[in-house]
Order: sequence, then structure tokens, then C-alpha cells
Amino acid sequence: MNPLRIAVFASGTGTNFQAIYHAIERNELDAEVVGLITNNPGAGARDFAENNSIETAVINKKIHGEENIDTEILNCLRNWNTELIVLAGYMKMVGDPVIDSYKNRILNIHPALLPSFGGKGMYGMHVHEAVIEHGVKVSGVTVHLVDNEYDTGPIVMQRVVPVYDTDTPEVLQNRILKEEHTIYAEAIKLFAEDKIEINGRQVIVKRKNA
Ligand code: GAR
Repeated sequence: MNPLRIAVFASGTGTNFQAIYHAIERNELDAEVVGLITNNPGAGARDFAENNSIETAVINKKIHGEENIDTEILNCLRNWNTELIVLAGYMKMVGDPVIDSYKNRILNIHPALLPSFGGKGMYGMHVHEAVIEHGVKVSGVTVHLVDNEYDTGPIVMQRVVPVYDTDTPEVLQNRILKEEHTIYAEAIKLFAEDKIEINGRQVIVKRKNA
């Protein structure tokens, strides 16, 4: 099989993007990052991509106009022959035309155990603040397929992380990010190895002899 061609979407620092890139470098994942799309010209993810000779596109309403964003994104994805879209801290809703063109081929990582602590406004540090405020004893990471709503698509993988009484949102974020940096490459690997079957809301990992 040829390496899976993935396009990464990121808005911020891009530590998840970097972790995926390094997993590929270490041959843990048979994939290639064919391009980075960001809405944020100042994203750390953009610097990382450019320093590693990965094609980068800054696409946002200021540059392109709101109505042209999906077309711009789709043009890039097609030029790169993208097979899988990986959202890695992308703080924009992906438009319906992109979702319809890449049905069941868009992954997102969320820093909590969905369906808890998801939805509009629940991103980054807001999630960890809400988790601590609520007093739950475990949080974690969810990798899921993206549909037309916030954080509601079928779940591919989850990992549980403890929440301690002494945690600040920052401390919890770091504990969770550490898990994010291993789970995302593992989830992408399932797609690269064509091991995923989708049955309604259930994402089933095919067994070897199935
Ligand atoms: C990660 O914690 C990711 O789970 C979260 O943003 C952070 C990005 O960090 N995503 C969301 O909250 C999406 N709802 P990174 O830029 O260092 O990868």
C-alpha cells in the first residue's frame, strides 16, 4: 500500500501535528503529510510545516472572503491528492462542502471524553476549565470522525486521564496533551492500514482474519 496522504488543518501551536509528523519519521505510521491548511497566519503549525518543506495554505475570510473558503480548501485538498483530513487544533468549523467531499475521511482530536465537554465554544483551555469546574474525576482524549456538527461524529478511539484535586487547567492540559500525542498517530494508523469499518455511530476495528 502507498503511504496515506494526509492534509493537516491546524490553527495554533501544532504540537499534535508535530507528533504525527515525528511518528511518520520514526516509521510508526505509513503516511505522508501532503499539506497544512491554517486559518491563522501566525500559527506555530505553519512555521513547523514551512521548516519541514510541507506545502502550506493560509485560508481565512480576511484573505479569501467567507464565501470562498470551502472552494479554496477543496482546491488545495484536490491538488494534494488528499486521502484523509486530520484536524489538529483547527478552531474553525469545517464547511459542509468539504465534509460532503470527504465523508468519513476527516478526523478530529478533542481534549475530553466526548460526548461530555464538547460542542460550540468547547475548545482548548475552555474544555479543561469546564472539566475542573464540574469536578469530574476523569477526563481524557477523543479521536472522532467529523460530521456537520460540533464534536458529534462517530468515535474512533478514546483514552482516559485522571483529574486530581490539585489540578489547574494548565496542568490537566499538559497531562492530556501527552496522551493526544500518542493516540492520534495510532488512530490515523488504523485508516492507513484500512482497518476501519463504520456501522452507524460505531467505528469498528477490523480483526486480522475478519
Ligand atoms: C489540543 O489539545 C486539541 O485537542 C484541542 O486543541 C489543542 C491544540 O493543540 N482541540 C480542540 O479543543 C478542538 N475542539 P496543538 O495546537 O498543540 O496540537
